[in-house]
Amino acid sequence: MSLTIRPYQAIDLQSLRDLTVEAFEGVSLEHDIERVVGEFGGHDWRWRKARHVDADVDRDAEGIFVAEGNGAVVGYVSTWIDAEAGVGFIPNLAVAASCRGQGIGRQLLNRAIEHFRSRGVRVARIETMAQNDVGRHLYPSLGFQEVAQQVHYCLDLGEEKNARE
Ligand SMILES: CC(C)(COP(=O)(O)OP(=O)(O)OC[C@H]1O[C@@H](n2cnc3c(N)ncnc32)[C@H](O)[C@@H]1OP(=O)(O)O)[C@@H](O)C(=O)NCCC(=O)NCCS
Repeated sequence: MSLTIRPYQAIDLQSLRDLTVEAFEGVSLEHDIERVVGEFGGHDWRWRKARHVDADVDRDAEGIFVAEGNGAVVGYVSTWIDAEAGVGFIPNLAVAASCRGQGIGRQLLNRAIEHFRSRGVRVARIETMAQNDVGRHLYPSLGFQEVAQQVHYCLDLGEEKNARE
């Protein structure tokens, strides 16, 4: 497969949404929340996760890089920069299941890091779920150092309301 990593274009949006929904099954906070409280608000976790891509585009479309293989979108990384703080954030990274294990994720991250360097960023930040074995292998292998682990809580206000009635 001939692979190109190129800047995001508006025409990529739906492909990125689709890729995200496929890739983050079992490795996203949105899915974890659904496992705890079930579906709510008339939407499932996929709908909520796809909105993260919209948020990434709204925040910094120029900070998104797309991996294209044989004319198809096969992965992407999103970034944004707090220039004043000197910090670059990588909120989302995904590679199509059929294309994993070929170094595409690594190339996308290297592109994000290159982008940060070119903008004078001092510290790059990325997060992964504790259960995400690939992230926990890949990020340290690129030099990312573990800083802290976090516990996420959610309160089901529908349940709370029912319990009080
Ligand atoms: C994370 C992801 C983008 C990586 O993409 P990829 O193209 O497969 O990544 P690469 O091929 O560059 O590297 C994967 C690395 O993980 C390793 N790996 C694969 N499966 C693994 C596992 N179960 N446990 C530990 N390491 C694993 C590979 O050996 C490779 O490491 P190496 O280069 O040292 O051999 C892709 O797996 C994905 O889209 N996952 C679902 C979404 C996701 O988790 N995104 C990141 C959220 S923080």
